[in-house]
Amino acid sequence: MVREGLWLLDRVRSTGERVHRKLGESGWAYTAQLSLQRVIPGWLLDVSALWLCQRPLGEDVPEIVDVEFLLRSPAEVGDLVARGVLREKLAPGASDPSVIVWTLHRGLDFVGSFLMKEVSYSPLHFLRLDLDEDEVVGDEMYVVPGCRGQGFGPHMNRLVAHHYRRAGKRRVISVVDVLNRNALRMDENVGYQRLTMIVIVRFFGLTLVVARGQTRLGRFTAKRPFVLSTVRS
Ligand SMILES: CC(C)(COP(=O)(O)OP(=O)(O)OC[C@H]1O[C@@H](n2cnc3c(N)ncnc32)[C@H](O)[C@@H]1OP(=O)(O)O)[C@@H](O)C(=O)NCCC(=O)NCCS
Repeated sequence: MVREGLWLLDRVRSTGERVHRKLGESGWAYTAQLSLQRVIPGWLLDVSALWLCQRPLGEDVPEIVDVEFLLRSPAEVGDLVARGVLREKLAPGASDPSVIVWTLHRGLDFVGSFLMKEVSYSPLHFLRLDLDEDEVVGDEMYVVPGCRGQGFGPHMNRLVAHHYRRAGKRRVISVVDVLNRNALRMDENVGYQRLTMIVIVRFFGLTLVVARGQTRLGRFTAKRPFVLSTVRS
């Protein structure tokens, strides 16, 4: 009886894993999750899981030659936001002064953007990662739809690696939704290693966070965030 029960549990678990993998591969799960998050207020109900990844900054050599990668000043960011090149939905937080904005161009065409953070980092407003001095975060990346799958995302990663390595940084951290298939594929293409999964369940203002042996339930807010203390391998 016990053996049958265990067998059944194992079947349920493996079927769940298979369904999760298939949905992730098709991209539908991420689309469904984003749609639900738009309809249901986050404090009421939200379930998400993020991969915390890292990549040592090596001496990468840029591969694509006919593009320009520009580090933008706050005034230039303001201009790009005003002209609608950087939109809040695609490059969230670009106007925040603590965010470092890079943009990629081919001729006159805008190809994509990469937003970085150098001090502390909040992938979600109630969650904070403190960074070491030699770490930098690749926060938000965007490649225009017509240019996806051509290696521009990995190329931006290599270009920032080159820049930050020379500035004394040693690791880049990335936080990616487990259902964001394209971003995970890109991270794999670049060589990020997965450190841990952060699971977040929010219901009626309470937040449960499970990450790397730490499980906490509380009313986390931007002022009193959950701080993930250890992100190093
Ligand atoms: C995630 C993102 C930046 C990746 O950039 P990219 O330049 O397309 O990266 P890559 O060239 O390495 O492609 C990654 C995967 O996307 C897939 N892809 C997605 N859309 C594609 C398209 N329209 N055409 C071809 N491939 C596509 C590719 O199959 C590729 O996987 P593969 O290497 O197994 O073939 C880009 O898809 C994007 O801007 N997405 C929307 C914003 C987002 O989710 N950002 C990440 C969160 S911070």
